Order: sequence, then structure tokens, then C-alpha cells
Amino acid sequence: MAVLQAVSLLALVGSAMSVDLASYALPFTGSTNGGNTFPGVSWPMGMVKLGPDLYTGSDSYSGYQPTGNFTGFSMLHESGTGGAPKYGVVSQMPVMGNISNPLADHSATRAAPDASEVGYYKSSLGSGITVELAATDRAGLYSYKFPCSGPRNVIVDVSHVLSSYRGQGLEQHYLGGSITVGEDGNQTRYYGYGSYDNGWNRAPKWNVYFCGYFDKEASYKTFLGDGNNAGSTLVQYSDAHDVSSTARLGAIFTFKAKNVQSRVGVSFISTEQACQNVNNQIPAGTSLATLRSQTRDVWNSQVFSRITTTDTDTTNLQLLYSSLYHMHLIPTNKTGENPLWTSSEPYYDDIFTLWDLFRCTTPLFQVLQPVAYEEYVRSLIDVWRNAGYMPDARSSFFNGATQGGSNADNVLADAYVKGVRGKVNWDDGYAAMVKDAEVAPPNNNDPRDTSGSTKEGRGALPDWLAHGFITPTFGRSVSRAVEYSVNDFALYQVAKGLGKTSDAARYLNRSHFWRNHWNPNSTSLGFSGFLVPRTVTSFLAQDPLTCGGCYWGDYYYEALPWEYSFNAHHDIDTLMALCGGPDNFVDRLETFFNHSLFNPGNEPSFTTPFLYNFVGRQDLSVLHSRSVAKQYYHPTPSGLPGNSDAGAMESWILWVMLGLYPMTGQTTFLIGSPWFSDLTIDLGGGKKMHITTSGGSDTAYYVQSLKVNGKVWDKAWVAWEDVFAQGGEMAFVLGPDPVNWATGEFPPSPASEFNRTASVSEVLGVLPTP
Ligand SMILES: *[C@@H]1O[C@H](CO)[C@@H](O)[C@H](O)[C@H]1NC(C)=O
Ligand SMILES: *[C@@H]1O[C@H](CO)[C@@H](O)[C@H](O)[C@H]1NC(C)=O
Ligand SMILES: *[C@@H]1O[C@H](CO)[C@@H](O)[C@H](O)[C@H]1NC(C)=O
Ligand SMILES: *[C@@H]1O[C@H](CO)[C@@H](O)[C@H](O)[C@H]1NC(C)=O
Ligand SMILES: *[C@@H]1O[C@H](CO)[C@@H](O)[C@H](O)[C@H]1NC(C)=O
Ligand SMILES: *[C@@H]1O[C@H](CO)[C@@H](O)[C@H](O)[C@H]1NC(C)=O
Ligand SMILES: *[C@@H]1O[C@H](CO)[C@@H](O)[C@H](O)[C@H]1NC(C)=O
Ligand SMILES: *[C@@H]1O[C@H](CO)[C@@H](O)[C@H](O)[C@H]1NC(C)=O
Repeated sequence: MAVLQAVSLLALVGSAMSVDLASYALPFTGSTNGGNTFPGVSWPMGMVKLGPDLYTGSDSYSGYQPTGNFTGFSMLHESGTGGAPKYGVVSQMPVMGNISNPLADHSATRAAPDASEVGYYKSSLGSGITVELAATDRAGLYSYKFPCSGPRNVIVDVSHVLSSYRGQGLEQHYLGGSITVGEDGNQTRYYGYGSYDNGWNRAPKWNVYFCGYFDKEASYKTFLGDGNNAGSTLVQYSDAHDVSSTARLGAIFTFKAKNVQSRVGVSFISTEQACQNVNNQIPAGTSLATLRSQTRDVWNSQVFSRITTTDTDTTNLQLLYSSLYHMHLIPTNKTGENPLWTSSEPYYDDIFTLWDLFRCTTPLFQVLQPVAYEEYVRSLIDVWRNAGYMPDARSSFFNGATQGGSNADNVLADAYVKGVRGKVNWDDGYAAMVKDAEVAPPNNNDPRDTSGSTKEGRGALPDWLAHGFITPTFGRSVSRAVEYSVNDFALYQVAKGLGKTSDAARYLNRSHFWRNHWNPNSTSLGFSGFLVPRTVTSFLAQDPLTCGGCYWGDYYYEALPWEYSFNAHHDIDTLMALCGGPDNFVDRLETFFNHSLFNPGNEPSFTTPFLYNFVGRQDLSVLHSRSVAKQYYHPTPSGLPGNSDAGAMESWILWVMLGLYPMTGQTTFLIGSPWFSDLTIDLGGGKKMHITTSGGSDTAYYVQSLKVNGKVWDKAWVAWEDVFAQGGEMAFVLGPDPVNWATGEFPPSPASEFNRTASVSEVLGVLPTP
């Protein structure tokens, strides 16, 4: 028995080591320079993200900052979000000395840079305390080493949140809570709840319940503030075992021991469930080392092993696995933790945002996590079923921050055309999409744009339905018109699939309405024809090189008219015709890159480098996507071109590395140039996709020839059925010089009734001229 155990342990260690891809995933990647990724401890899509909260005077979106002072170590965070911080709640803060007022500022400086690896985090405080963290899906473990000189305390401040310093009124508020302290067997336990609101999605009040244990004897006091939630005046600091109030409150625990561990569970349902979560997932006596290797195993088996290679280039491996890591932190799977409705459907929260995610992340999510993806789609539909609209963004059980269209429509269409069926109720899914397309949501009076809802659905729908374009009565009129066209194309796809012929015709027609903003006389850098703002009667003057304020109340949201004028991807042959045909289209793309109009850090630019595939210049897609990728992406803390946007950036680079690019809502994947000599993608259900290259190097990356499933391939695209539906094989030959290999059929332009060589006047002939 002993011998057998030793053997199987060795085998386990051996196999774990041979697949420890987690060592390539660097949690600090993208954590600085506005990347805002979360470097603390989390499971894939785990509800708990345990990490530090730093105060610097500016917003700590993920809690972490490389500078500043620790204000706590808390259980809930997001990764790669912007707008305003969310969560940073259910915190512990270790503090030395006699504490006369636990509500006073008990922050700590940093003695050394934090350390992080998958499953583990460590901070060294100026106070001499070391904090190490590990976690599971719904619970966390804190391990403290205190210095010799006492007293040694841990403050649990229920009012602790990540605040916002941007002055836009999006900052979170603590609204009240309770805490109960006492003995539970030989352990010290605390439990209770906190209520909070706001954050980037402008959420109303929500509750989190917590249940924490310390493994060492402690003396403790509870405390209560005077009701001023920014103030530190104490009105009670006593041996009372319970406090409950809308005022700041918490408890302080003081230890004789120098090494103390604390296990904490959270729940959105009840303190009982919070206690169950911690006792089921981190039973008393569990060591930090056990949790750390358990978390690594989970990441290896559920995420990293989905893409493997025999290549050994460390930088490429680190970029690959760090990107996979940060793409899988949110959304969070809160199935069984939804306090708002009872349902047999799964529940996924912390979606930031489908505007960011629909192009690259959700299509990759489907490929890598088909089981979770189906649950996610069901969850989107269940939100409509119970809350009225699918989210474009959602957090703390509330929709919010809809920047453009109703992009859940794109996600559903993508899932539908790629065959996601299972337990998805597509009649309901389509009904949820029709709600987006036909019923304007009530105005939520967001001060950033009071013209219509920013919470969900399509706030500018009244104009869209009345005119087929959006006037400046509504904020973001031009960018929303582009997105509503794409959303309507999504409805067309699903309507067609469900055999709803007249609906399909209606939405196909509406998917053309982006054309109503096309002013053929708008010029820039020698090109004519751009998307412009318009009234009912006329186009408005607009320089295509500027988006003005580029914000919620402006004509274009976060991107230039030049960028949005490339975004009718479902109707690209018409776009090409309006641009003066394929040759002019290539010139326009070249000028776009030559004048640095491409924005690597923003989603409306994501697809543009690949558009050359539509005009027989696949070599230029490879050239531009590579050069952007090599210039802006590195597996380092500053290695993202902007906010991670919940993994949107990471999924863009992942597609580039795989040598493919998805056209969401269609089954088309544009072909690039893979970075590895071999890649195996585990598609689930025993299906695999193999990608190989020969002849590739840092200077030899142009496609010379390609075989797909053993057959010579002359198209710059493949379809879902070719390589993903049942698995497949793509074998590339790469070389230093461009070769005109993609001479076959162009990628589809499924919404276009025009030939790409049609004249501008022919296309404009069908449009109502203002
Ligand atoms: C961090 O704490 C130190 C020591 O109290 C203080 O001097 C410093 O100003 C603090 N930094 C910030 C950003 O608050
Ligand atoms: C803390 O308080 C105790 C009891 O009042 C006292 O003996 C001790 O010196 C104090 N320690 C510090 C560091 O102030
Ligand atoms: C606490 O009690 C449990 C059994 O209930 C025991 O396994 C554990 O060793 C005890 N811990 C300490 C520190 O006494
Ligand atoms: C999501 O969470 C639920 C509840 O814990 C679990 O049953 C389900 O398997 C999870 N989904 C995935 C894809 O892990
Ligand atoms: C397309 O929509 C426009 C504007 O609503 C309408 O006038 C036109 O009849 C529609 N065309 C078709 C073919 O449905
Ligand atoms: C564009 O300019 C031409 C020539 O001046 C003019 O005939 C046409 O009406 C203009 N079109 C629009 C939509 O303003
Ligand atoms: C853009 O720059 C490239 C490289 O400098 C050059 O070959 C190309 O002609 C330029 N294209 C345009 C449209 O300026
Ligand atoms: C588009 O027009 C060109 C030139 O007239 C013609 O060769 C081509 O077949 C047409 N394509 C389609 C899809 O109609």
C-alpha cells in the first residue's frame, strides 16, 4: 500500500510537471499602464478573486496597483475593467500595534514588489507582515506571518470598497451590513453581510454574505462608526458579538500566534451558504500549498491544455498562456448564487462588456470552452427571461454600460450559426433578440448621456425604427447606427435559421441602414465617402479624422469616423463599392495604417488589419496584424496596448497567434499566419484541430501555401464546418516574401446585394438621399 501510494504520487508529480503549462502564465501581464488585469488568485471564471487593494489616489480597477499603499486584501474583484472600480469587498487588513480606532486609515506601505503565480499571491508589507493568498472558486485562504513584536491584528472592515476618484459619480458606496463574531468549536469565526451599490455599471444595492474562520485563538472586538460613511468617528468599540447598521462596521481580531491562517467563503444568497462554500471548498486544516497546486491543476486541465504546442520559445509560450489566463478570469460563473430569481438555467455575471468581447472573445470562448459557452448563452437568455433584456454588460446582478448596440444579439447569432443547440431554448433566444430590436428600453438617465437608456437594449431605437438612421437627438448616433446594423444582421441570421422568412427579410433590410449615414462627399486624406452624423434632412459636416469628445454624448463612441467606416463587416462588398472598388479599398486600408489611424487598444479597430483578406491581399493582413502584435503585445506588466477589457485584447492576440480571425455572426474565419510550428486545439468531445507551419521564423511569416484537411487551399478563409465543427487540420508553408496564394473565392459578404465593383451611384441609388 505504502509502495503503491509512493508510485502513484510520483506518477502524479511526473504528469503534473509534464503539463505544468501554468508556469508560462504570468498573472502580472497587463496589470500596469492601464491594462488593469487582476494579478491575484482566481479559478477560471471563479466567483472569488482574492487579491490586494491599493490606494494611489487614482482608480484601482482590479484592486492592484504597482505603487501605493495596501488598504486591504479582498475577496471579490474584476479583471481588465474600466469606467470605475467594482467590488474590492469582503476584506481583511493585517495591522500591528494597539488599535485605538479600527476605522482610522490602517493602510500599509510595500516592503517589496508583490509576487504572483497561478494559484498564489504574496505581499510584503512595510509593517513587517507577510500576506500569502490562495483560493478556490467560492472561498479564499489568507496566510499571515506577523513580526515578533506584537500586538498582531486583522481588521475586517465591512465598509471597505474600491472607490473611484474620477469624479463621474460612478464610485461605489457601502450601504450597510452586519457582523457576528464568536467561537465555532476551536476556531474563531465571523459572518455577516455587506450591501453596496454603483461602480461602472451604476448598479443599485446588492448584498454579499461572508463567513470567515481563523485557525488560531484570537481576542476580538466589534466596532461601529457614526453613520458618516467617509468618516472614522467611532460610536462603539466593544465586546459585543453582533453589530448591524447602515453605519461603517466590522471586527478586529488580535492574535498571540505569529502565523495565522484565515479561510473565508462568500455567497450572494446567505451567510449559511457562505459558510458551506468555505467549509466544502477549503476544509479546516487545508494548507496553502495544497490549494496552490489544486488551482494550478484546475487551470492546466480546464484552460491551458486546450491549446498545446511542442515549440519551446519562452516568450511566445508566455504570451500564449498569459493571454489564455486573463481571458478566463471574467465572466464569473455564479450558478447557484443568483439571489434575484430561481431558475434551472446557469447564471454568469461580471460581463464587461459584449461591446468589447463579441468580436474575438466570445468566438474563442466557444472554441475553447464549449460547455461553459453553452451555459453562458443560456444565462444571457435567462437574464432576458427574468429581467427583461439581455445584458450588453452586467455586474452584481444588474445590466449596465451599454456603449453601442445590443451586442448579445451578435453573440447569440454567432452561437446559432456555429451550431450551438444543446439546452439552449432558441425560441426564447430569438425572442430576446427581437426585444432588443423592437422595444426601446426605458431611459435610465445616465448623466453621461441622458438621451436614452445606457442600461440595456437599444436606447436610440426610436430613430432607428422611424428613419433607418439615428439623428443627434441621441448620443453616439453614428457609432450606434453601425452597431445596430450589425445587430439586425444577427437577427437576420437567426430568423433565417429558424425559418422565419419575413422576419429574416425585415432584419436583412435593416442591416443595410448603416448606408444611410454614408456621405459620399465627405473626404479625408484623398478618400471620399465616410460615415457621418445626419439629421432627417441633411448630413452634418464632420472631419473623418476626429471623433470630437468620442464619448457617450458625442456622435462617435471611442473611435474615429475612419475606424467606424470600416465596420460594416456583414456588408463588406457594399462598403467596398462605396469606397470605389477593391483597389481603392486596399489604398484606403494602407492609408489607415500609414497614418496611424489604427488603434490597437480599441475594439472597433480589431478587425481592420484582416480586411485585406477580402481583396486578395492576405499578405497585407499578415504584415499588419503581425506588426501590431509584435509592437504592442508582450508577456510583461505593461504588455497590453490598453485596457484588457476583460480579456478582449488577450483574445485578439490569441487569434493572431493561431493564424485565424473570426467574423462574429458568420461562420467565416479569415486566415492569417500562425506563430507556432504546431498547435493542437482541444475542441472538446474528442475533437481536435491541428495547425502546423513549416519554414516560419521572425522574418519568414508570409503564407506560401496552405493545405486544409490535406487539400490544397486557395481561399483566404475557412468556415466553421471546415476545421472546427468536427475538428480539422491546417498545414501552412511560410516564407520571407509574399506569395499570391489566395486566388480563390473571396470571403462571403452575406448582407450584400451589390457587387463589390458596383458604382457608388448604383449603391446610393437605393438609398433615400437626405
Ligand atoms: C503611503 O503611506 C505612507 C506612510 O504612511 C505615506 O507617507 C504615503 O503618503 C502613502 N501613500 C499614499 C499614496 O497615500
Ligand atoms: C499595547 O497596550 C498594552 C496594554 O495597554 C501595553 O502594555 C503595550 O505596551 C502597548 N503596546 C504598544 C506597542 O503600544
Ligand atoms: C480543532 O479541532 C479539530 C477537530 O474538531 C482538530 O482536528 C484540530 O486539530 C483542532 N485544531 C487546533 C488548533 O486545536
Ligand atoms: C458553473 O457552476 C456550476 C455551479 O457550481 C457548476 O455546476 C457548473 O459545472 C459550472 N460550469 C462550468 C462550465 O464549470
Ligand atoms: C427596407 O426598410 C425601408 C425603411 O423602413 C423600407 O422603406 C423598405 O420598404 C424596406 N425594404 C424592404 C425590402 O423591406
Ligand atoms: C455630392 O456632391 C455632388 C457634386 O457636388 C452633388 O451632386 C451631390 O448631390 C452631393 N451628394 C450629397 C449626398 O450631398
Ligand atoms: C504605406 O507605407 C508603405 C510602407 O512605407 C508603402 O509601401 C505604401 O505605399 C504606403 N501606402 C500608402 C497608401 O501610402
Ligand atoms: C462582379 O462584377 C464583375 C465585373 O463585372 C464580375 O466579373 C463578377 O462576376 C461580379 N461578381 C458577382 C458576384 O456578381
